[in-house]
Amino acid sequence: MAGRIRDTDLSYLRERLRIDEVIGDYVQLKNAGGGQRKGLCPFHDEKSPSFHVTPSKGYFHCFGCQVGGDVIAFLMKIEHLTFTETVERLADRIGYQLSYEDSGKSAPAGQRSRLISANAAAAKFYQEQLNSHQADQAREFLSQRGFDRVAAESFGVGFAPDEWDHLFKKLIGEGFSEQELLLVGLVKEGQRGVIDRFRNRLIWPIRDVGGDVVGFGARKLASDEQDQGPKYLNTPETPLYKKSQILYGLDRAKKEIAKARQAVIVEGYTDVMAAHLAGITTAVATCGTAFGDDHIRILRRLLMDDDAFRGEVIFTFDGDAAGQKAALKAFESDQKFVAQTFVAIENRGMDPCELRQKEGDAALRDLIAKRVPLFEFAIKSTLANYDLNRAEGRVLALNETIPLIAKIRDASLRPEYARLLAGWIGVEMEQIKSALSQIEKNPRSRAALSKNVDSESGEGLEEPKRNWRPDPQEPKLMLEREVLKARVQFPALCRDWRNLEEEAFTHPAYIRLRAFIDQQPDFESITLSEADPAELQSFIAELSVEPIRTDGEISDRYIASIFARLRELAIGRNIAEIKSKLQRVNPVENEAEYGAIFSDLLKLEKQRRTLRDLAVGEI
Ligand code: GTP
Ligand code: MN
Repeated sequence: MAGRIRDTDLSYLRERLRIDEVIGDYVQLKNAGGGQRKGLCPFHDEKSPSFHVTPSKGYFHCFGCQVGGDVIAFLMKIEHLTFTETVERLADRIGYQLSYEDSGKSAPAGQRSRLISANAAAAKFYQEQLNSHQADQAREFLSQRGFDRVAAESFGVGFAPDEWDHLFKKLIGEGFSEQELLLVGLVKEGQRGVIDRFRNRLIWPIRDVGGDVVGFGARKLASDEQDQGPKYLNTPETPLYKKSQILYGLDRAKKEIAKARQAVIVEGYTDVMAAHLAGITTAVATCGTAFGDDHIRILRRLLMDDDAFRGEVIFTFDGDAAGQKAALKAFESDQKFVAQTFVAIENRGMDPCELRQKEGDAALRDLIAKRVPLFEFAIKSTLANYDLNRAEGRVLALNETIPLIAKIRDASLRPEYARLLAGWIGVEMEQIKSALSQIEKNPRSRAALSKNVDSESGEGLEEPKRNWRPDPQEPKLMLEREVLKARVQFPALCRDWRNLEEEAFTHPAYIRLRAFIDQQPDFESITLSEADPAELQSFIAELSVEPIRTDGEISDRYIASIFARLRELAIGRNIAEIKSKLQRVNPVENEAEYGAIFSDLLKLEKQRRTLRDLAVGEI
């Protein structure tokens, strides 16, 4: 990561950039009088323009959905970029060199755009080479995998010729230095001087979320005897290319991922192409590395991943074995995302690219549509090891899968899985229930099962404490806890505190804490006296030191976004109640009452949309 961008640079950029020009890339703007311009809001669906831009002030604002901000906020929101990425893009746009405070060992200012240009030039070169005579085999590979010329062009697929330094010479000729080309990983030191890194390979340019080419993936074309290198070769770690943070295809999938609240994780470049061509436009792949925490973080920015996260992440795996192993690991994890994680595996072991080729686009869409929740997949693939037609097989299967259900952290999911398991194995529900409750009751076996749950305190003490003190890891309560932590630790940033809905908190302890805070005479500080209940005191102490869970900085904006999410959920609950009330009222007999409830409903829906946008936009 580069250092902090200087404030003076930020104000310079805000001044120099014309916000209407930047927004004009996305929205048709018309004059609206008074120096204002307006157009159709890109952040919500509308038929008449309520999206206003004020170039003289550098602001935009939508009267329909209440989103607004400066040029940086606009680009962040529409392109789903981080703050730094956005500022770098805007600086590039006007050829301005940013300077960083404390830039450490990261790329010096201005270098990023040089390296990006080198990659862009290389991508263009490779793409041109794909039409050359030498590239027969490369084109053949593509067509064998079901990709025509248009598909290849759309993904910028290219060919690296089987020569030592063709690319190197070409880029030196275009004014890039040897040092730049080494740094960006296009060439490397060979026995006798600098040589091209990729030779006789099919090339996929890998773009970052903003669409800049940051590296390449390259597949071997020659036989293993002729080329002893790995099947796939990628750009090594460079100032631009950090493989743990890259998802191939994200630049074209990001909008769809945010819109559909779904991300499909496939295994390779060809799978991403196949998926997109088949209409699964939310597909991305890691580049020669396992799906890791950084990847989760990146998707979370798009899916808004926490309690309010209604999205799904769907994994496809080439083979059953790999998928099974990954799925079983989920039981040992903190299970934070597990309820939103699904698995789609082709049971004959075909990858998405093969499936599309052999059976067409619809078959691939079908595979994704038939995704299975991760827990279900894991349990079923365990059952597959047993012969359920025999009594012994059923008993053994039961013994192995009941503990899995006991390991599900979200207790409310367990009965449902117990019911399903009874059906899958073919035993009575009672049998499952009693086996499960034995495990749940026996603290020793439970401690063994859920190592990461705190159960070291004595049994007698544990019960009352457990009742009062919510599990800090409970996914359903995470957001409530984060908001309370923010309120305790950063009261000055919690301007929305007083706007929180009455139903914002659901756990009794959190409700009680909120009431306690509201009784405080001073908004900015909580004063405890000895008369206050001991458990409340220790609870506040706990929340005041527990780190806020964010990957970014704890800013005004971040706090506002978690408040918005909590409010969105509360309003969601309100809406559900009103809807059920509406069903009980007869619209003909009680027209007025029905109308009143209905208009409340519309108001709440609108409010919820605004909050949702606020929550998404500010991350
Ligand atoms: P083919 O059908 O043989 O062309 O394979 P494929 O394109 O389906 O690729 P495969 O399923 O073998 O691999 C999927 C992904 O894993 C690739 O896109 C690469 O990102 C990665 N991968 C596979 N083999 C290698 C390798 O040897 N090195 C590296 N770094 N990554 C690899
Ligand atoms: Mn594959």
